Amino acid sequence: MARAISEHGPAPWVRLPDGLEVLAVVDADLAHRLLKSRIVSRNPRHWPGYEDGSLEVGGVVRNWVAPQTALNAEGDEHRRLRAPIQGALTAKRVRAMEPVIREVVGSLLDQVSAGEGIVDAVEAFAAQVPLLITTRLLGIAEEQHRDFRRAVAGVFETGVAEAEAVQRMARLTQLLEKLVRDKRRAPADDFTTEMIQQADAGNPRLTDDQVRDQLMLVVSAGLETTVHGIGNLLVALMTRPHQLRLMTSGEASWEQAVNESLRYRPPAEWVPLRWAVADFDDPETGMRFRSGDPILINFGSAGRQPSQCPHSADSFDVTRTPVRHLAFGYGPHTCPGSGLARMEMEIAVRGWFDRFPKCRLAVAESDLRMIGSWIISGFAEIPVALRTSSAR
Ligand code: HEM
Repeated sequence: MARAISEHGPAPWVRLPDGLEVLAVVDADLAHRLLKSRIVSRNPRHWPGYEDGSLEVGGVVRNWVAPQTALNAEGDEHRRLRAPIQGALTAKRVRAMEPVIREVVGSLLDQVSAGEGIVDAVEAFAAQVPLLITTRLLGIAEEQHRDFRRAVAGVFETGVAEAEAVQRMARLTQLLEKLVRDKRRAPADDFTTEMIQQADAGNPRLTDDQVRDQLMLVVSAGLETTVHGIGNLLVALMTRPHQLRLMTSGEASWEQAVNESLRYRPPAEWVPLRWAVADFDDPETGMRFRSGDPILINFGSAGRQPSQCPHSADSFDVTRTPVRHLAFGYGPHTCPGSGLARMEMEIAVRGWFDRFPKCRLAVAESDLRMIGSWIISGFAEIPVALRTSSAR
C-alpha cells in the first residue's frame, strides 16, 4: 500500500477506512526528519476539535490516540510515563529473561512436535511465544492468557464496526484494571507490581488509570508485533532454504536474519497518529505542513526504499550490509522493547529450525492470508508440514 501511495508524493493526503483524512508519510527520509522533530507531536490535544468533542474519531484510531500513554505524550510527561517501562526493559533485564524465553520456546516446540499433519505455525507457536513472555513479564495468571491474547489481537484488527471496536477496547481495559487491582492486593515479583510501586513513588504520582494505560501500551505494543515478527521470519526462511543454510552453516548469524526480516517485512506498518504543532515547511521535499494536520508515519516500507537500501531491496538477503529501517521507529518514541523483541524472534525462529530442519510451507507463499489490519503486517495462518523430506 505504501508503494502505491508514494506515487502521489512523499506525504499525500489519504482517507483511512473509517473516513479520517491524514497525511500519509511514505518517504523514509521525511519520516526520519518528522520523527525526531519537536514540531510534530503524538499528543492528540494538537488535533483541532478532538478535546472539545466536535471532531468525530472512528473507533480504531480512537483506541490508539485516547489512552494516556507514553506513546501519546511528549516532553516531560512522555519521559515520566516512559521511564518505568524503559526501566523494566533495560539490556540487563532483557538478558536476564533469556533463560525464560528458552524454556518457553523449548516447551512450545515439544508441544508442536507431538502434533501430526499440518500445523498452523502462528496459532501453535508464533502467537504463543510473546504471549507467554509478556504475560510472565506482567504477572498475568495462566487462566487469563487466552483472554488477553484475544483481547489484544481484537484491538489491532482494523476492519471492524465502530461498536465492536469500542467493545474490544473495553474488554482489554477491564482485564488490565483487574490486573492492577490484583497486584495491589497481592504484590509479586513482576513488571505490574514494579509499575505500581514506581507510580506511587513518582512525582507527581501516577494514578491507577495511568498505570493501567501504560500496561495497555506494553501489552498492545509488545504482543501482536512480536507474534508477526516471528511469523514473518519463519515464512521468509521456509520459502528460502538457501538463506536458512547460511545460518545453519555459520556463514551468517541469526542476528543478521532477524535484522533482515525487520527490514524486509516489519510487523508495525503504520502507528496512529501525530500532529503538526505549528505551521512549518520541509525544504527537502518542498512540503508545507499546517498546524493541526494529522500525520500518519509509514514504518513498514522505509527499509525497502532506494534512499535507504540501494541494492535489490525487494529480495531477502541475510548477508546484506545493514541498512537504516524504521521497524522500531526513531526519535523519542523509539521502541523500548526492541531488545526483547529481537531476542524472542531469534530464540524462537532458531529453535524452530533446529527442531524442524525439513519443515516446509504447506501452501504456496502467495496463498498465505494476511491479517486484517492496516496497522500490523503479518500472516493470519502459516500452515506448515513439519517433517517433509522434499522441498516444494
Ligand atoms: C517485533 C516487535 C516490535 C515492533 C516491530 C515494535 C515496533 C514499535 C514501533 C515502530 C514503535 C514506535 C511508534 C511510534 O513512534 O509511533 C514502538 C513503540 C513502543 N513499543 Fe514496540 N515494537 C515491538 C515490540 C515491543 C515489545 C516486545 C515491547 C514491550 C514489551 C514494546 C513496547 C513499546 C512501547 C512501550 C512503545 C512506545 C514508546 C514511547 O512512546 O516512548 N514493543 N514499537
